[in-house]
Amino acid sequence: MTLQGKKPLSLLTFACAALVAAALFIESGAAPAPPTLTPEQIIAARQASLDMSAMTMAEMKTAVTDGLDVKKQFYPAKTLARWANALPTMFPAGTGQGTTSAETHALATIWTDRAGFEKAAAAYVAAADKLGEFAKDGDSAGFASQLTVVSKACDSCHGDFKQKYP
Ligand code: HEC
Repeated sequence: MTLQGKKPLSLLTFACAALVAAALFIESGAAPAPPTLTPEQIIAARQASLDMSAMTMAEMKTAVTDGLDVKKQFYPAKTLARWANALPTMFPAGTGQGTTSAETHALATIWTDRAGFEKAAAAYVAAADKLGEFAKDGDSAGFASQLTVVSKACDSCHGDFKQKYP
């Protein structure tokens, strides 16, 4: 076989490789689409987190009434504080009552009085953060009274921004 006979094949191979490389380049250069959630998915995620908050509170209340070492409550307290920080972001516009097919108890005041809602959430963050500090210090008395403060932060926000169950 002569070199000349091989040439067309080599060119073809080169051309194919170049095409594949070009395709890969274009592919990797394209910006990935940002993640999107539907309003229904956001409502479902926040409601599940809020239900888990109630369970986390119940766990900590049991620890207090059973006289357990509050140092072990640092993790639930800190987790509650992390969620408290994320809470307002889970209430974007368009996730209120009547805007989707999902059932929600989020009142319109969340959006008409956004500053008030953010303030209620910030009070919750501060209360939960402090609860974590009492847990870290192993201060059972401080932890017990701070747990009441956190509970009041839940109720206070619910009073203004959450529809009561009939
Ligand atoms: C800043 C306001 C705010 C704070 C603070 C807050 N919540 Fe709520 N919570 C809401 C709103 C608004 C809803 C209604 C959400 C919905 O139905 O979409 C809700 C709903 C709930 C629900 C019902 C969820 C469901 O399945 O429908 C539970 C349980 C709950 N909260 C527990 C708590 C607990 C426990 C705390 C405190 C540890 C707390 N929340 C703190 C605003 C708040």
